[in-house]
Amino acid sequence: MTPFAVSAPARSLFGRGTRAEAPDAVAAMGRRVVLVRGRAVAWVDALHAALTDRGCTVETVWSRGEPDLDAVRQGVAAARDHAADSIVAAGGGAVIDLGKAIAGLAPGAGDAADYLPTGGPAPRPMPDPLPMAAIPTTAGTGAEATRNAVIGLPDSRTKVSLRDARLVPDLALVDPALTDGAPRALTLASGLDAITQLIESYLTHRATPVTDALARSALPPALAALETLARTEDPEARDDMARASYLSGLALANSGLGVVHGLASVIGGRGGAHGAICGRLLPAALEGNAAALRAGGQSTARIAEIDALLARHLGAPQDSGSAALRRFIDDHGLPGLDALNLPEEDKPQVAQRALSASSTAANPVALTQEDIAAILQQTA
Ligand SMILES: [Fe+2]
Repeated sequence: MTPFAVSAPARSLFGRGTRAEAPDAVAAMGRRVVLVRGRAVAWVDALHAALTDRGCTVETVWSRGEPDLDAVRQGVAAARDHAADSIVAAGGGAVIDLGKAIAGLAPGAGDAADYLPTGGPAPRPMPDPLPMAAIPTTAGTGAEATRNAVIGLPDSRTKVSLRDARLVPDLALVDPALTDGAPRALTLASGLDAITQLIESYLTHRATPVTDALARSALPPALAALETLARTEDPEARDDMARASYLSGLALANSGLGVVHGLASVIGGRGGAHGAICGRLLPAALEGNAAALRAGGQSTARIAEIDALLARHLGAPQDSGSAALRRFIDDHGLPGLDALNLPEEDKPQVAQRALSASSTAANPVALTQEDIAAILQQTA
């Protein structure tokens, strides 16, 4: 029997209306709180006021898009100046990643870059992080349940991950109502991220009985919710997508991902919504993985299962799943890779770097640089 391990938030609260429990739960974690947030969700103002009412001293760190090294440095400095004893991040995946990086690096000394795998000297070991609560306001990354924070390095136009099992938030509080009314493009891109994460967690050679159960239960409702939310606002679909996102985070934290996220980590440094990039790459990656598995005499049964699910929920009966997903993405106007300013001559280098990306190591089958270049080539 293959051994496996499970890491997950110490406590998770999921459900419509759970945000009412946030002030007490966060105040119980510490009194000198750093609140990491974006500007999009007005409820975070109420959270701030409720924490102050409970005797917490709150320092706000504003997130401005996906965190880069400077944003992490500023957040860490703010937390150290505040003598913070806890972190709460309320926002999308970028906000939660910034919160995790601050939680992980504020207790240490020295520069944030010393702790990151930037390709230079070996990173310093991370100190024990501050206690952290994560409250997602988008449904996609599942960052509330994962053990890494993605940080952009603008100089090299790449992203790196601060990765440590201790970075899993202590509390994940998921209230799907916080995603109600989110703009459609954001909703679809985020949803495609959750779906890609569930699919890659299901296909990876590192899948476990636990991650299989998570992916199998979450994928069909997530695909149905994606189709619904493309057409209309719907609270039940919001609930299903928020749950899929959380479960995708739990799954990927315990199984790893695959070549789609490997490629996305390399080209994501050029801009573009992470989830839209993942959704665009997924069809060609499914086809490329199926071909590589067949060539190696390995089973493609799981890819066939995924293909059938995609076709059933997103396509017409005669479609393959890959074709259905491609058309769904085109029909709903999600940007293509051509919006990323990725010149033809850069593609071999992108494929080479994706080959050694940490996510790619979990791909169901070993791919060559040429295989990865072909996936990129077949992605519009
Ligand atoms: Fe992702």
